[in-house]
Amino acid sequence: MRAIIVTTPGGSSALDYAEVPDPVPGEGEALVEVAASGVNFIDVYHREGRYPLPTPFVPGSEGAGTVCATGPGVTQVAVGDRVAWANVVGSYAEKQIVPADRLVPVPDALGLDLAAAVLLQGMTAHYLTRSTHDVREGDVVLIHAAAGGMGLLLTQMAKMRGAHVIATVSSGAKEKLARGAGADEVLRYGDVAANVRKRCHVVYDGVGAATFEDSLAALRPRGLLALYGAASGPVPPFDPQRLNAAGSLFLTRPTLGHYVTTRAELLERAGDVLGWVADGSLDVAVYGRYPLAEARRAHDDLEGRRTTGKLLLIP
Ligand SMILES: NC(=O)c1ccc[n+]([C@@H]2O[C@H](COP(=O)([O-])OP(=O)(O)OC[C@H]3O[C@@H](n4cnc5c(N)ncnc54)[C@H](OP(=O)(O)O)[C@@H]3O)[C@@H](O)[C@H]2O)c1
Repeated sequence: MRAIIVTTPGGSSALDYAEVPDPVPGEGEALVEVAASGVNFIDVYHREGRYPLPTPFVPGSEGAGTVCATGPGVTQVAVGDRVAWANVVGSYAEKQIVPADRLVPVPDALGLDLAAAVLLQGMTAHYLTRSTHDVREGDVVLIHAAAGGMGLLLTQMAKMRGAHVIATVSSGAKEKLARGAGADEVLRYGDVAANVRKRCHVVYDGVGAATFEDSLAALRPRGLLALYGAASGPVPPFDPQRLNAAGSLFLTRPTLGHYVTTRAELLERAGDVLGWVADGSLDVAVYGRYPLAEARRAHDDLEGRRTTGKLLLIP
């Protein structure tokens, strides 16, 4: 089969399109023919070696497709099932081995491409708005990079819960998308310090180094900063005493794996997210569908801030 391989971590040129042996599913595993693979920022961190993986590896953390073989002891899925998965590395490929208990069913009404586009970021937005902080009617919420893959989903889910959403974006085109997703106020990053000081119950920050200080300053006493990513680079070491001085603030650095710890939790979050897309209550904006062979271009576009919404690789 064809797949993207990283042998030496680095820039996007580390993504090589190559012929590799067809994988064979073992105990408890399924082999899935990949219909679409989602591109996520974590794929960039893996490619760079910022989150090191043993080399060589096939990158990609999410996909959807059809089960084409199962190993011994698999009870959760059968050949022919339409399935999706997240947080299992290896989806930039024509086929992927996935532990069967990590697969979720895709509703008949939903295209496999949309399932691949929404599962990882959708479950992330789900836990951030329901579990990390249970967003309530009237909460004031700041969402950075609101026109991005995560940002558009977070904005819609915060609005589902009745929040007042303040969004940041870098351009007029991105502002239009954030407003379309329901944002009540849309700001450029440079305007946050003057306009959002001590107003927010919660800040969702996936930008990291560039926005961290403004995010803290935006919180009202006892507010929560959910620092869920670092698209602009990691936040430098931090003195916890600053949380006291700024109003007994909370700071968390959450990750999806800790919010889908059981199969029941996975099925519940995935069921909500895929169900909302299938019934039209959650919109998934696909920015681009790139041929698998053009994974380098997809990464360059994502890192270059040229994209909005979601990027897919199609084998
Ligand atoms: N913790 C978790 O469980 C989890 C799960 C999924 C994703 N994430 C995180 O969520 C964040 C967003 O991921 P995504 O895949 O949806 O990407 P994305 O938001 O579609 O793309 C990143 C966006 O960040 C903004 N940005 C600001 N400064 C940037 C910089 N210096 N370099 C690049 N981008 C910059 C850009 O929007 P503007 O041009 O509008 O500024 C850019 O479009 C990432 O940090 C990712 O690691 C975390």
